[in-house]
Amino acid sequence: VAMLTGPKPLDGKRVLVTAGGTVERIDPVRYITNDSSGKMGFAIAEAARDRGAKVTLVVGKADVSPPNGVEVVAVRSAAEMRDAVMCRLPDSDIVVKAAAVADYRPARPRAEKIKKSAEALTLELVPNPDILQEIGEWKASREDGARKPFVIGFAAETTDVEKHATDKLRRKKSDLIVANDVTAEGAGFGTDTNVVSVYGPNGLVASLPLLSKKDVAGRILDLAQDGLRASGP
Ligand code: CTP
Ligand code: CA
Repeated sequence: VAMLTGPKPLDGKRVLVTAGGTVERIDPVRYITNDSSGKMGFAIAEAARDRGAKVTLVVGKADVSPPNGVEVVAVRSAAEMRDAVMCRLPDSDIVVKAAAVADYRPARPRAEKIKKSAEALTLELVPNPDILQEIGEWKASREDGARKPFVIGFAAETTDVEKHATDKLRRKKSDLIVANDVTAEGAGFGTDTNVVSVYGPNGLVASLPLLSKKDVAGRILDLAQDGLRASGP
């Protein structure tokens, strides 16, 4: 009952979450994507909603339906996701980038279906914008005292999790990085559970056991709330 009637920890806050995988067109019937299910980002959006936040969920391709009670912005490519995210930053208190953004896209998407031939086919790929890095740069360029969101990125790794995660945190100027070893049992894409460790500017912040994605979402929001309190008025 207290959950329904009492004040909630994120009352009045705006939370922007990205989830799912991006879709990079090759031609009208083919695309490049990845194994992201959207579940981790959806769990965070749902948990933030239950804590009283006004939630915007920017979602690419996902295997499950987004939660009710949040604003859903459907996108396909990384470029579309970038635009949807960047224009909402000034209104956001917390940004969680759980989406699996394709690192590359076809250099020349075709307007017509590519016909087969006996020849080998080479597809040229060009790098996508790094949205999390652009968020970090946008934040760094804001004047002192201007409203800045607390930014949480993710890192999907298969080796040297700590090293790669802390490198990403620094390169992308994020406040926290949630790292998962996608090869670990019960972790990563498609599952309902996850095993993550969270890194901040001073190193390891939390090393969580195997938990449901819902419980992982709760722990991540606890850390975001601590971060907001530390940087807030
Ligand atoms: N990310 C992003 N834009 C991209 C690529 C990644 O915003 N073009 C974000 C993801 O949403 C995630 C974080 O950056 O929050 C880390 O993504 P990850 O794929 O683990 O790292 P990369 O920097 O792309 O490096 P690599 O894939 O080589 O490990
Ligand atoms: Ca990547």
